[in-house]
Amino acid sequence: METLEPNLADLVALAAAEFTAATEPAKLEEAKARYLGKDGSLTALLKGLGKLPAEERKQAGAAINKARDQVESALVARREALREATLQAQLAAEALDVTLPGRGSRPGGIHPVTRTLDRIEQLFRSIGFEVAEGPEIETDWHNFTALNTPEKHPARSMHDTFYLLDAGGKVQDDVLLRTHTSPVQIRTLLAHVEKYKHLDTLPEVRVICPGRVYRVDSDATHSPMFHQVEGLWVGENVSFADLRGVVADFLRRFFESEDLKVRFRPSFFPFTEPSAEIDVAFMSGPLEGRWLEIAGCGMVHPNVMRCGGIDPERYTGFAFGMGPDRLTMLRYGINDLRLFYEGDLRFLSQFN
Ligand code: PHE
Repeated sequence: METLEPNLADLVALAAAEFTAATEPAKLEEAKARYLGKDGSLTALLKGLGKLPAEERKQAGAAINKARDQVESALVARREALREATLQAQLAAEALDVTLPGRGSRPGGIHPVTRTLDRIEQLFRSIGFEVAEGPEIETDWHNFTALNTPEKHPARSMHDTFYLLDAGGKVQDDVLLRTHTSPVQIRTLLAHVEKYKHLDTLPEVRVICPGRVYRVDSDATHSPMFHQVEGLWVGENVSFADLRGVVADFLRRFFESEDLKVRFRPSFFPFTEPSAEIDVAFMSGPLEGRWLEIAGCGMVHPNVMRCGGIDPERYTGFAFGMGPDRLTMLRYGINDLRLFYEGDLRFLSQFN
């Protein structure tokens, strides 16, 4: 017994030194085996306890267990140190100097559709419109129901609309990719009413809502993702004449053409009444004299007003939804919509 404890202290020191000398995890595990493994020296000592006389066994056992604990904590500490060192080495090796200038970077430019959106915004801001936004993943209620669109309307079908799957892969019937920017009408009205609920008379709502919309559709003039700009003007005396004036004036300014012809052709939308399609015709250039459809519009339907929290007996309003992709094609003489979304620099760089 006299010799056991000093021997154990040596053993612990030796083990600790071997662990420190191991510079990679595999070597450390080998060193561990020499002490704590099946044939390790500490394991052998523990096994030998049985041969000791009973009166020495208890004390020797305690001493060996203490030594084993010390070796184990040295092992754990070294493992941790190696893990930390590996991590540090990896971080150092993978370090990026984010302050380095990029290689071969060239100045970027503004996408032609973004140019159009900026231009539309600027023109509408100049007559007192604000810009509103809504989510691209929209609820069925905002996109259809609140817009007076009946349950069986074709726009709600899977052929036309992108629905989303839940975690179990099942189609969710309450959310979808918005098929138009019109749901922003509802969001805008509800927020407006909430904001001004302390007033007797609601200040006018005058917003445009630019954004991406989605439909199951793809050819030279249709892309599954495209842009719309919604317009909404609600107040106490807003009329169809105001709609005509605002839109015609906007289009002449947008195309910088005084003699642009603008036509309102009767149409149908569930969320406006009466409704119209807006066509333009240029008086010169390659498209001279051809009527081109660029927007839908109408007076906001009373049911839509009510869903937006507005009294349709007191307030009226108009709304329109136009296609800025279309406007961009007309303005620059582009005949394939897909060019906008292919990211081909030979095409895009012509606009900058
Ligand atoms: N939301 C309609 C569409 O996507 C356009 C529209 C907007 C029509 C506002 C009338 C009023 O076709």
